[in-house]
Amino acid sequence: MVASSPADMLLVRNLHVSYRTAEAVHGIDLRVRAGEAVAVVGSNGAGKSSTLRGIMGLASALADEISFQGGDLRRMPTYRIARLGLGFVPEGRELFPGLNVAEELLLGGRLLRGPQRRQKLDEVFALFPRLAERRKQICRTLSGGEQQMLALGRVLMSSPRLLLLDEPSLGLSPLLQDAVFGALRHLRDGGLAMLLVEQNVHRALALCERAYVLELGLITRAGPSGDVRADPQVQKAYLGG
Ligand SMILES: Nc1ncnc2c1ncn2[C@@H]1O[C@H](COP(=O)(O)OP(=O)(O)OP(=O)(O)O)[C@@H](O)[C@H]1O
Ligand SMILES: [Mg+2]
Repeated sequence: MVASSPADMLLVRNLHVSYRTAEAVHGIDLRVRAGEAVAVVGSNGAGKSSTLRGIMGLASALADEISFQGGDLRRMPTYRIARLGLGFVPEGRELFPGLNVAEELLLGGRLLRGPQRRQKLDEVFALFPRLAERRKQICRTLSGGEQQMLALGRVLMSSPRLLLLDEPSLGLSPLLQDAVFGALRHLRDGGLAMLLVEQNVHRALALCERAYVLELGLITRAGPSGDVRADPQVQKAYLGG
């Protein structure tokens, strides 16, 4: 059980997420404080995506609390949750395949006024020069890594207060993983809070100051990333130690 504190941005207590046939997340607690980068690590099928989808109102969730900056997110439609400042980058990216890079980004900033939109676009292009070079390229022809950058960039266009990231390294070459994680580090250093879901435990623990280990829908370990990394069972199960 966790008690709320004024520094909490996101507070989740006793979250259950279920699908028609089964429950995937069996009552977990987690929190992200202002400016914190927090990881949820675990293997295939542990319930990482279900956790994020439950928070975002995209999967059926029951909880004692899901709150963001003190406001209750439960039963709120996803678009309203997003407008409160939760920027969700889903697994699989979900881009519009026929749009070009600039169009896709401008769509992410559709609630902004013209000049602000241009300014945001310039910020995203500064963060991802690769996208700037490809601004007229059609999304479906981008590489996986470029698509991941674009999905992240599209969410950044809406100026989120908290990023929820579902396996941003999935399927990327080590070089492109470096680029994506470099951008996340830059955002973290700028004070943007994030909740990062990853199978790549190594990279997640390097980026985030705190971590939760999720196994079969339950949190089995939680603490500062250094402590989680040093845990012999985590070493054995996730770090090849
Ligand atoms: N739409 C769905 N309908 C039914 N069961 C689902 C659905 N999505 C996920 N599940 C089940 O819920 C459990 C958790 O899945 P989830 O996708 O949250 O895991 P994950 O940790 O994100 O895994 P991965 O690392 O493979 O992405 C799994 O047993 C999965 O089969
Ligand atoms: Mg997943």
